[in-house]
Formats: sequence, structure tokens, C-alpha cells
Amino acid sequence: MTTDTVTTRTEDLIALVERSSAHNYHPLPVVVSEADGAWVTDVEGRRYLDCLAAYSALNFGHRHPQIVDAVRAQLDKVTLTSRAFHHDLLGAFCEELAALCGKDLVLPMNTGAEAVETGLKVARKWGYEVKGIPEDQANVVVMEGNFHGRTISIVSFSTDPVARNHFGPYTPGFRVVKYGDLDALGHAVDEHTVAVLVEPIQGEAGVLVPSEGYLRAVRDLCSERNVLMIADEIQSGLGRTGTTFACEHEGVEPDMYLLGKALGGGVVPVSAVVANHDVLDVIHPGEHGSTFGGNPLACAAGRAVVAMLATGEWQRRAAELGDHLHQRLRELVGHGVLDVHGRGLWAGVDIDPSLMSGREASEAMLAAGILVKDTHGSTIRFAPPIVVTTDELDLAVDALAKVLETAATHPSR
Ligand SMILES: Cc1ncc(COP(=O)(O)O)c(C=O)c1O
Repeated sequence: MTTDTVTTRTEDLIALVERSSAHNYHPLPVVVSEADGAWVTDVEGRRYLDCLAAYSALNFGHRHPQIVDAVRAQLDKVTLTSRAFHHDLLGAFCEELAALCGKDLVLPMNTGAEAVETGLKVARKWGYEVKGIPEDQANVVVMEGNFHGRTISIVSFSTDPVARNHFGPYTPGFRVVKYGDLDALGHAVDEHTVAVLVEPIQGEAGVLVPSEGYLRAVRDLCSERNVLMIADEIQSGLGRTGTTFACEHEGVEPDMYLLGKALGGGVVPVSAVVANHDVLDVIHPGEHGSTFGGNPLACAAGRAVVAMLATGEWQRRAAELGDHLHQRLRELVGHGVLDVHGRGLWAGVDIDPSLMSGREASEAMLAAGILVKDTHGSTIRFAPPIVVTTDELDLAVDALAKVLETAATHPSR
């Protein structure tokens, strides 16, 4: 083999993916083969600090022992029954998750998108059967810049052309209003509105926190107009922002929580709709479900997660570490960073686009041993697992400072 034909294992493995997997993602060029806590190791033996945590699915870090032990023990017992039969963990998981949410009932599914679809179905049925809307007239108000997943109905109300274009015909019954604009919301809601679907913090849009009082006002409007407030806490919930749910920052309780990602402890996909009897009782046998929804392995992981969150320690830790992260990141404003937003251990950092794009910044951070990912354009997102330490956060922010300094002194554009 000549030196020109030598390829690394990383290149070979990426080439294999390029040849045999659909090109629906554009990952950073790192091939992870092991992970522990806040750190991952690639196939070449290089270690990286994970500051993305699988978009919050790894809130408790990679392979947290409490979660892995619960799942491992369950593997030796029973992994799947389907919902044709009962199994011995479903009731406990639902009861414990409902208690964490302060609600009556849980409808378990697998992925986040499924939880969103489920929430929309439940809301429509509630609209016809409880609110008394004429058949097929229901509408749901959603927000500009939303991200709720990738199914046909969900992309039907996406405002991102990449997510939406050429996937029509689209599902009708959605109205899009500007995120944060209460007047627009007030005008969009009418007598046929069944729900307002909102991310308490818009993650994919760049970790955008609405102005103070917005969620409270959405809650009030929904209560006044007999409309369900659905909070998509799939990315913002379960400890990420320093509270169990991001809605708590405004003392708001939605009618329906949509949960996913971290609910499976980073081990198995687990999602859920959580609401009270008056809402979830509209669903009867045969009307909704999933072969894997609420399976024993998922319940084992989910119960471990709920037990960990019930202590309140994860939320406290995310709040404390989050303060440190935001304080350190804000020091970079004016030094290649235009703005920092977010809450708790979750930050969107707007890089000066004249220096580099978000993708370029992410690639430079990768070279420095830190995993972050761009969202749109020039924003990069920090969402490290809550097991991260203050020193590790400093490592990540120092690396970003260096990347920006290098870009400013050796401009490539
Ligand atoms: C707020 C929100 N809702 C829903 C989803 C979809 O979840 P999944 O990718 O598990 O379908 C995501 C994923 O990023 C999300 O951030």
C-alpha cells in the first residue's frame, strides 16, 4: 500500500455509511465506538467531550449505571410483550411518570415524533368529543420556527423549507403564528381551535427562549378559550433547563406534556403523552397504539430515569452548571460571538458569520476534542450531559474561545 492509498478507519467507516445508508444526515466526521458519562471515544482512540448529548437524549450521560443496570436486569427477564398482553412494569412506569408530571395518565410511545402525533390525535378527538367542534373542522395553532419531528403531519406545519418541501400534499388543520407573538396567537385561535402546540424553548431554531411571561400568557389564553395547551418538552424537559420541565420557569402547567429523548435514558427510545383523565380518556382500545410503546425494556429505562429525576438533584445540578456555562459563554460576546441564549445546561451560541459558519465552528471544535453541533446558519448548540463537571465546561468554552481567536487571526473567508 502506498501512502496515498492509506485510509484511516474513520474514513473507511464513513465511506461505508455513505455507500449504504440514505443521506438524510450530514454528521461531523467522527466515528464513535465507546462512551462513558460525558465522554466518547472514537475508533482511532481519540476522546471527545460530548457537549450535544444526542440533542438531550443523554441528559444523564452515556451509560449511566443506574439506567444500564435497570435495562440489563430487564434483558434477563422479558423485553417485549406487545400491548396484546400486560407486563409487570407498565403500570408502575405510568404511575411514576404521571406523578412526576403531576398528571393522571400516561400514553407511552417510542420516538418524539410519535408523541407529537399522539398529542395531536388526542387533541383533535378531545375537540370533537369534549369541546363539541363539528367533524373535520378542528385546527391546531403552532409556532413559526417549530421543530416537532419528521412525519408527514408534523412537517406539514414546519416553516423550514428543507424539512417540508416536496413532502406534500400536506395535512390540513394547522395555523402557524410567530413564536412569542401573543396578538397573533389571540387572532389565530378561534372556536374550532383544539390546541396550541408550543416548545417552551425552541431547540432546533437555536435554543430560543421566549420573552418572560409568554408561556404564562399562552396558558391563560388556552384556559380562557377552552383550548388545550400542549407543551413539547421532548428536548427541553427532564432536567435540561434546571427544572423538570421548562414550563416551570413561568409556573405554567400545560394540559398535555409531550416527552421523549431523555425518557429512555439514552438507551432505548421511549416517549409519552402525559395528561389528565379529561383529555386522555378520549382514547379507547384500538384507536391508537404502537407495538413497542410501553415495552418492558422501555419501562425499565423510563422508571430509572423518573426515579433519578424524582430526587431533584439532576435539576439542581443542571441549574448550577448552566449558570456557569452561560456566564462563561457570555464572556465571548464581542470576541467572535454575537449572542448567547438558552436556559440551564442548554445554550445557543450565535457565531459571528463573518468569521465562520456554525458548521465550520463545529468542525473546529471537533478538532479540539469537543462535540457540538450547529443548528441553523451560524448558531452552535451546547447541551452537555448533566454529569459534566465545571472543569469540563471550562474546557469546552476555552476551546471555543481558541477556535474563534484562530478564525479571527487567520481568516479563511
Ligand atoms: C422539541 C422536539 N420535538 C420532537 C422531536 C422529535 O423527536 P424524535 O427525533 O425522537 O422523533 C424533537 C427532536 O429533536 C424535538 O427537539
